[in-house]
Amino acid sequence: MLAVHDLTTTYGAVTALDGVSLEAPAGQVTAVLGANGAGKTTLLRTVSGLVRAQRGAVSLEGTDITRLPAERMTGLGIAHVPEGRGVIAELTVAENLRLGGLHRRQGSEPERLERVYELFPVLGDRSNALAHVLSGGERQMLVIGRALMARPRVLLLDEPSLGLAPRVVAQIFALLRTLVERDGLTVLLVEQNATSALSIADRGVVLGLGRVVATEPAERLAADEKLRHAYLGF
Ligand SMILES: Nc1ncnc2c1ncn2[C@@H]1O[C@H](COP(=O)(O)OP(=O)(O)O)[C@@H](O)[C@H]1O
Ligand SMILES: [Mg+2]
Repeated sequence: MLAVHDLTTTYGAVTALDGVSLEAPAGQVTAVLGANGAGKTTLLRTVSGLVRAQRGAVSLEGTDITRLPAERMTGLGIAHVPEGRGVIAELTVAENLRLGGLHRRQGSEPERLERVYELFPVLGDRSNALAHVLSGGERQMLVIGRALMARPRVLLLDEPSLGLAPRVVAQIFALLRTLVERDGLTVLLVEQNATSALSIADRGVVLGLGRVVATEPAERLAADEKLRHAYLGF
């Protein structure tokens, strides 16, 4: 469904991605793992058009989408949840969610809100609360919910677990898995937290210094002790 071929992205003299090829099959969770600086964020930013690829191609269901501007991606059904859980603190939970649906109108807004609240009941309970009072976990749910308001087919997630308690990470990842099973969503999940990511992933891709060093089914990656020690730190 989403395929990346020979992607190279540079920042001045720094080569952040160096000939990366990978696939995120439809209706599956593909985890992209690797240490800090491996190129994970650059991969998502290049796929979603925020950074320009030097070389290579990105395709969605066989259609070339390389170098399309980021604002076109929403219309194509690609949603990017960047690292850092940015919400608009002065707006309510519901208002933040509505912002996510502005550029892609599929189904009525109340209906889309209802589906997000169904998945994340805590957001429904706090729909009129200002975003700045939310906990880290709730904020993460809010940014995922906001992305879902555009009814994406492909969800790009950048380190959703960062800085959250393990129990909260487990809860959010379980919900992601539900979403994939329920709606057939395609997820490209970038994580340093390999253990958690592999627990819900179908496949794993390991990046090391801008290159793909392994692509394996998730269970096989989790069991590969050598690779784990060398690239995943557990
Ligand atoms: N805006 C930028 N300008 C210059 N170098 C950058 C920029 N963003 C990332 N880099 C460099 O690119 C490499 C990959 O970074 P990044 O994609 O953020 O990796 P990760 O998300 O895996 O930590 C690193 O060497 C990083 O220092
Ligand atoms: Mg990153």
